[in-house]
Amino acid sequence: MAQSDEFWSGAAVVTGAGSGLGASMVDRFTSVGMAIVALDIDGVRAQETADKVIAAGGRAIAMGVNVADREAMEKAAKAAEEAFGCCNVLCANVGVQQFGAIDKLTEAEWRWVLDVNVLGVVNTVAAFLPLMRKSSGNRRISLTASSSVLSPGERLGAYIASKFAVMGYGETLRMELESEGIGVTLFIPAGMESRHIESSQLAKPADIPGGIMSQDDLDFMLSSRKIDTAFHVATTEHATRNLLEDLAANHRYIVSHGQYRDEIVERNDDILASFERGQR
Ligand SMILES: NC(=O)c1ccc[n+]([C@@H]2O[C@H](COP(=O)([O-])OP(=O)(O)OC[C@H]3O[C@@H](n4cnc5c(N)ncnc54)[C@H](O)[C@@H]3O)[C@@H](O)[C@H]2O)c1
Repeated sequence: MAQSDEFWSGAAVVTGAGSGLGASMVDRFTSVGMAIVALDIDGVRAQETADKVIAAGGRAIAMGVNVADREAMEKAAKAAEEAFGCCNVLCANVGVQQFGAIDKLTEAEWRWVLDVNVLGVVNTVAAFLPLMRKSSGNRRISLTASSSVLSPGERLGAYIASKFAVMGYGETLRMELESEGIGVTLFIPAGMESRHIESSQLAKPADIPGGIMSQDDLDFMLSSRKIDTAFHVATTEHATRNLLEDLAANHRYIVSHGQYRDEIVERNDDILASFERGQR
């Protein structure tokens, strides 16, 4: 048994569990015997994730729920408490994508992205934290951000702004929950093979016109990023390969993959240079 296996008990709640990164996170927590609460706006896919866990001999429930709906998230927390009586891991993983130049993004698109990606995370934590506080055993919260906060690209303004908000929220939450022994980690993946564009299009409210991404947006975004290869993309299995170990260690950040070290250094150098100027 891997060292981190003994660390885990109880139930793991994952939003966006119907697909991609969320489904891979579920696989990891199932592998150490945790019960699963699979949440997704696509209730059919959430149920498929839960069925897979049950078929492998585990325990799971699923709910179709929109993370932007606080009341629905509170109902999900009640259902989790009734089913398993605890929440030891909470992965606020949902994020939707909306490409577009800053001067082209509509107010409705901004509101949708911020509602889901920022308030969705806030709602997820607000709904499940009371149950987490009552749970015995080790407890961890993982918030999914994006490498775009470390390596920004053009045509991603709304998305990147939302993920910076997730970073700010997570940094604060980590400090506020430290004394309770609840670890908070910011999970920062680079590109992944997932349904992100397709699921974002499906989840976009029908009354907001327009697509998620045009070829022109994609070309601009790729050419604006200082990445050697065209785009560093991994499977979600690869992105989660160290998840259990890294969460158990309560690292502040999990940068799962990607090639943008130089950009991080360059930005930090800029901040430090500005700091030094501020000391004059
Ligand atoms: N795919 C990438 O390249 C990439 C890169 C960096 C970060 N991320 C982040 O990883 C996370 C997971 O994305 P993914 O790549 O696994 O995509 P995905 O599309 O495979 O999974 C996202 C899931 O979230 C669900 N969802 C969408 N809106 C929802 C809502 N309002 N309420 C509840 N569920 C909702 C979708 O139905 C889908 O099942 C997101 O936060 C995304 O921003 C993705």
